Amino acid sequence: MEKSIVTPWEVEGEIDYNKLIKKFGTDVLTDELLDRIKRHTGELHPFLRRKLFFSHRDLGWILKKYEEGEKFALYTGRGPSGDTHLGHLIPWIFCKWLQDKFNCDFYFQMTDDEKFMMRPDLTLEQTHAFAYENALDVIALGFDPKKTFIFSNIDYAKTLYKISIQIAKNVTTSTAKAVFGFKNSTNIGIVFFPSVQAAPCFLPSFLNEKNVPVLIPAAIDQDPYWRITRDVAPKLGYYKPAAIHNMFLPGLEGPSGKMSASKSDTAIFSVDSPEEVDRKIKRAFTGGGQTIKEHKEKGGNPLTCTIYQYLYFIFEEDDEKIKEIQDGCKKGEVFCGECKTLLSDKLVKFITRHQENRERAKDVLDKFLLKD
Ligand code: TYM
Repeated sequence: MEKSIVTPWEVEGEIDYNKLIKKFGTDVLTDELLDRIKRHTGELHPFLRRKLFFSHRDLGWILKKYEEGEKFALYTGRGPSGDTHLGHLIPWIFCKWLQDKFNCDFYFQMTDDEKFMMRPDLTLEQTHAFAYENALDVIALGFDPKKTFIFSNIDYAKTLYKISIQIAKNVTTSTAKAVFGFKNSTNIGIVFFPSVQAAPCFLPSFLNEKNVPVLIPAAIDQDPYWRITRDVAPKLGYYKPAAIHNMFLPGLEGPSGKMSASKSDTAIFSVDSPEEVDRKIKRAFTGGGQTIKEHKEKGGNPLTCTIYQYLYFIFEEDDEKIKEIQDGCKKGEVFCGECKTLLSDKLVKFITRHQENRERAKDVLDKFLLKD
């Protein structure tokens, strides 16, 4: 297998999620925990049922707190380096479901500072503007404005800085190097930055002047931040943040690597036109045979198929239907063209509705923002 790299800034290669759980020291999201969630929610979100979320830290503890009557807050975010793609939407869609089911406050950080410091090609004006474009995608998902707090690090710096420096004081350079792989050539802004991404883990406690449990839904690439934050939390008298991790939606070019905003043909963007979405899906990598003859003879491989994964994890909730597709593909009876049309139709419907909601979000953006 080709070597895989997973850091907050780089996800490349074929990813072995069991190995990642071991490497990062997180826990498997067990059926027992899913049952416990279901007791409170009445049903499981398809992302849980299909195990797109597969790993966690302290989820049992968050549920215990909830069962004892202590409400938890949600925290997630976006590094605004461009348009939002479908992969980014996964943790946010899940947060919306959690907000509805557990009545949570939801905090959303936009790291315009991070992307400015990380990306030599982007100015601060650009990352700042992208942040508010990306915020529209969050709002379009239907979050409750009374319980949702979205902030750009630049515009909320005064508050965040107070928390960040408490964290920074308790993290050594050698820890930061070991966790993030910083080198001597890394700029010092990026070395400080983990304390800025950590800060919102304590923001609900800071604002409410009491300890508030926090759950972070995000892909596993962000976990190194939570490792550091969890070490620091007791020193500052806060609860350790809990986390629930999703897998990466693969890029359209195949199973190696994730959908990536920096490679535009690997990704479906929230602002792509329906024609563009259809074009990208029709050109995408599949698990089918090279020719129809070969496909009929040998069958396809749904497990390496991007189209199948999008259907399985997001767009085909019907268990019967997905099984039919999987079995049919393996037997060479269901063809790539059929799956692509099915996915394209569903995706175009989703994107069209999302874009309508995104337009409406422009009128209400201010209701969601925290600024100093
Ligand atoms: P960013 O902008 O790289 O990613 C935003 C969120 O999307 C997840 N993600 C994906 N999920 C599924 N499939 C993919 N292909 C995919 N690509 C990205 C990321 O894990 C993330 O949850 N530094 C962060 C911004 C941030 C943040 C946070 C993220 C600040 N605070 C708290 C999560 C939680 C970043 O650059 O994310």
